[in-house]
Order: sequence, then structure tokens, then C-alpha cells
Amino acid sequence: MCGIVGAVGFISPKEYVFKGLKMLDYRGYDSAGIAYADNGIKIYKDVGSVEHLLTIVPETINSNIMIGHTRWATHGAPTKLNTHPHLSFHKHICLVHNGVIENFKELRSFLIEKGYSFYGETDTEIIANLIEYYYLQNEDVIETIKVVKPLIKGSYAFVFFTSDDPNTLYVLKKASPLVIGLGKGFNLVASDASPMIDYTNEFIELDDGEFGYVNKEDAVIFNKKGQKIIKDPISKDVELISHDLKGYPHYMLKEIEEIDEVVKRAISIYHEDNEYQFDSKLLKELREADHVMFLGCGTSYHASLVGGRILENCNNIPTTEYIASEWAYHPVVPGKKPFAILISQSGETADLIHCLKIIKEKNVPTLLITNTAGSTLSRGCTYTVLLHAGVEVSVASTKAYAAQVAILALLSGALNKNDKMVMDLKATIDVIDSIKNNLKKQIEQIAEEIKDKDHVFFLGRSFDYFLSLEASLKLKEISYIHSEAYPGGELKHGPIALISEGLPVIIFITDPNTANSMRSNVEEVKSRGAKVYIVSTKSLSKKGDALVVDDYAYFLSGVAISSIAFYLAYYVSLKKGYNVDKPRNLAKSVTVE
Ligand code: AGP
Repeated sequence: MCGIVGAVGFISPKEYVFKGLKMLDYRGYDSAGIAYADNGIKIYKDVGSVEHLLTIVPETINSNIMIGHTRWATHGAPTKLNTHPHLSFHKHICLVHNGVIENFKELRSFLIEKGYSFYGETDTEIIANLIEYYYLQNEDVIETIKVVKPLIKGSYAFVFFTSDDPNTLYVLKKASPLVIGLGKGFNLVASDASPMIDYTNEFIELDDGEFGYVNKEDAVIFNKKGQKIIKDPISKDVELISHDLKGYPHYMLKEIEEIDEVVKRAISIYHEDNEYQFDSKLLKELREADHVMFLGCGTSYHASLVGGRILENCNNIPTTEYIASEWAYHPVVPGKKPFAILISQSGETADLIHCLKIIKEKNVPTLLITNTAGSTLSRGCTYTVLLHAGVEVSVASTKAYAAQVAILALLSGALNKNDKMVMDLKATIDVIDSIKNNLKKQIEQIAEEIKDKDHVFFLGRSFDYFLSLEASLKLKEISYIHSEAYPGGELKHGPIALISEGLPVIIFITDPNTANSMRSNVEEVKSRGAKVYIVSTKSLSKKGDALVVDDYAYFLSGVAISSIAFYLAYYVSLKKGYNVDKPRNLAKSVTVE
């Protein structure tokens, strides 16, 4: 979602702002812009990439203040006019925003009554004007923020400056991340610490409701009640996003090929010296829980389905998995002594942040499984377990999914002190490597055969069904082919009506508990003309299966063979000529609900 950077006090902030915007491009965006002060407010913005923006801004910029923004359109189409920064009607306030303003229509009507008009369709432009309206009355920005804050409903990180004071950046935050970086003779702001790490390692993370200002010497923060507060700076272990493709043509391919390393790393960190290495308090709380609820979105939700079944099967703990955005409408917490596990690669997913607020009100202990240390969710949860998967740049999550499943399996092993889990996980590494070394050509051939189809079906049961869900999501995400994942048992309850001549049906048969039933499904779809591609394990394989891999512990499909699903989606997208790493309409970090 939208990315924000800002600098004040630099002789030339351009280098930082552009480098920062590039570093935030993992959040996904459709347009980008900058603003600075130089005899008035100057704004350059356009639809397209940060590289394109760089071609339209002056080479030399004479200003010691600058804000920059990458926009992922929510309110209003991705057009130049809707691109941030936004300038208020009387040209006093220049502002960028990440978040969604829920009551922007009411605020818009209010401002129209006061004589304002607007050039674009965004909720952000309304706020620039709302701030200006009150600023023109009381002429003090901090007092204006105190008046305006209670009027705004929704999520936001705002950074702005005024035409009257080109030496100060103002910040306010609620439910969208915003971090201040403290320098010597300059100060910075950004959506996360990564753009600032080359300049400072002292950060102030704003909490919800906080606001303030930074100039070249100071960072002054007010709490949600409007009282000035001192926040101690923290240092951060920021893992820089490597733009080094290491010879790969795309991040997605590189990240799929890192899965074996990611699994090895997870084992070595969480089972070091033959001892499980999870926080003993976390394990105690989990053992005492009578129900574990999981919350996640997209791929992370799919990982929770696997983790939930492993905890139930191996640890006898009842679990329920919820799609975060749905649970928030019916926020029931199951059990008398519940425990909540939140799964989020980014740690910044707005739907989960919303759930976390509800869960905290219910005093349920929480564990976040994430790839991002110090993320918003991590700061809010009781415990954090890191994936240590290395930064994932491609919007389509691959190695993070495998890491999520691996770590949930390790957690299960730690709960009942079962070293067999580690052995089972170690065994998946050979399977992953053999797919990487021996099966890519065959997967590419399947991709060739399905790339021009309009629909694809994935079928499986139990753990193979969970993998089907992930395979289907990945395919639709980056190839834009409509795909469905169904449990084999559900086929006859409706979806079989859609099976027609030539429809590609990809079927996972890797679970001995469900293999026979899946073979019946194979016959059902074949007899209706489907083109079937079966992925099976050696001991369950039959002549004619498309891809056969060595046996592994069946509940670890998400680790052992998820790469098959990822390669398939990758090759289809590639053959269709799409932007594999940055699919249309999607963002890496979904920071709006
Ligand atoms: C995965 O390929 C997707 N891009 C998406 O479903 C993602 O998993 C989802 O948005 C959740 O993100 P999170 O793990 O960062 O919370």
C-alpha cells in the first residue's frame, strides 16, 4: 500500500526521498510524487514508476524539506490528479497519506459549504483542506491538529508541511505505520525504518493517536490527549531489502529457490543444539490453552489451516482458523482459555491489526508469526516468532509461506517435545531440492499447456486441499487466470457441474489418508473430459501421474512441495508476459482494510 518518506534539514533531500521511495516499492503502487519548498510549494507527480518520476523532476532541487509518496489507489482512479502529494485549495498545506478516511464524504460536504472545491477524487485531498480550513482560523499547526484529529474517522499516517514554514514536517498517525528517524542536523520520516537505515539508527515509532513535528534539530511528539511527551529513541535491526537478484530474472524465482535454505535456517534457529528454542512462557501459555485460534489473510491464512491441523493432530489442541477480515464481523473467541496465533509475513496487514485490537480488549494472549521484526503487529502481540526467511520482495508470497508452515510444525514439535518433527522437516529439504533440480522442465511444460486456458481447477483433500488453496491463489494472483480450489469430497456437491472438456484440473495426491478417495475424484473429472495433472508422492503414485516426488511426512506438503505450485504460477505468468513480481492491483503489504 502507499509508502511515505520525508526529510527536513538535508541540504538536498532528493537522494534520500528517491532512494526511500524505491525501498518502499515492495508495498505496491501505481503512481508516485514528491513535494518540496522552494519559493513556494513545488509538486511533481505522475502515474507510473519512481524511475519515471525521477525523469520529470528538476535535476537540482534547492530545498531542505521534501516529502515523497507512492500511491496504491483506494479512493479515486490512479491518475495524475489523484496522485499524492496533495495541495490544499489556498495552497497552504501540502500533504501525503497512507490509509483510508472513512468519513471523507461528510468532511467533503462540510468543506464545500465553506467554499472549498477539489481537483481530485481522493480522501486525502479532503484532509489537506480540512487542515487548511482550521489552520487559517487559528494559525497554529499543532492546535489545528488537535482540532482536526477527532473529526477524522479511519486509518492514517499523514505527513505534511505548510507554505508558511518550509522548515517543519508535521506528522500524525492512527492505524497506519509511521516512523521518525533522528539524524544530526536533519530528521526523517517514513512508513517503515528501511529507507532511513543508511542515515540513522535512532528511531521513534509513533503510536496510534500520536502526532507532532520534526525540524532539523527536534522531533516533538504529543500523545493522543494532546500532551507533549518524550519518547525514547529505539534502534532497529532493519533487514535491508536487497535489490540484488543474484542472477535470477525475477525475485519470485529467486525466492522460490531459497525455500530449502529458509527451512534449514528455521530448523537451525528453532532447534539449535538439539533443543527447541521457543520462549518457554509462550510454550506454557499454549499448553495451558483449551483452544487456539488462528487469524491470517491470503497465503498466511492458508498456512494457518495447515498449522491448525498439525496442532490438533499432533498436540491434541482444538483450533479454529479464521480469515481476519471475516472474523472481525463476528469476533467470537472460542474456548474458556483461548490463545490467538496471528500469521503475517509483513506484520503490517490492516485487517489483522484491526483483529488484534479486538483480541486485546478480550485479554487473549497472542503470538505473531512474522517475517518482520518490530512491525506494527509485532509490537502489539504478546509474543513474536520470526520466520527468518529473508526479505520477500515479490508480491506473491512463496518462501514466507513455506517458512510459516515449517515454523508452525516446529512449534508443534516443541509443545510435545517431539524431535520426530525435526526429522520430518529435515527430510523435506531433499524433496524441495529434487523439485528444484529435476522437475522444473516438466512444470514449465504444464504451464505451457494451461497458459491460454480461462479456468483451472485444483483438487485435494485435507493437507492436499490446503495446498490446493495456496496453489490456486498463486496462479490467479500472477497469471490472472480464473482458478478454483476444492476439496475432492465437495466436487460432487456442486463444482463438478463446471468440469468440461479440456479443463485443466491439477490434483494433489500426497496424503495416504485421502489418496484412494482422490483417485476416485480423478476418474470423475477425467470421465467428464478434464485434462488432469496429478502431483503425487512415490508410494501413492500411479502410471501417468504428471509429477512424482519422494515420500515425506504428508502433513508437510506446504513445505515439501509448495514450490511446485509456485513454479507453476511463475511459469504461467512469465509465458503470458506479465510482471511476475508486481502483479496488477496487488500490494506486498496490505495496510488498508
Ligand atoms: C500472497 O501471495 C499474497 N500476496 C497475499 O495473499 C498475502 O499473503 C496477504 O495479503 C497477507 O499478507 P501478510 O502475510 O503480510 O499479512
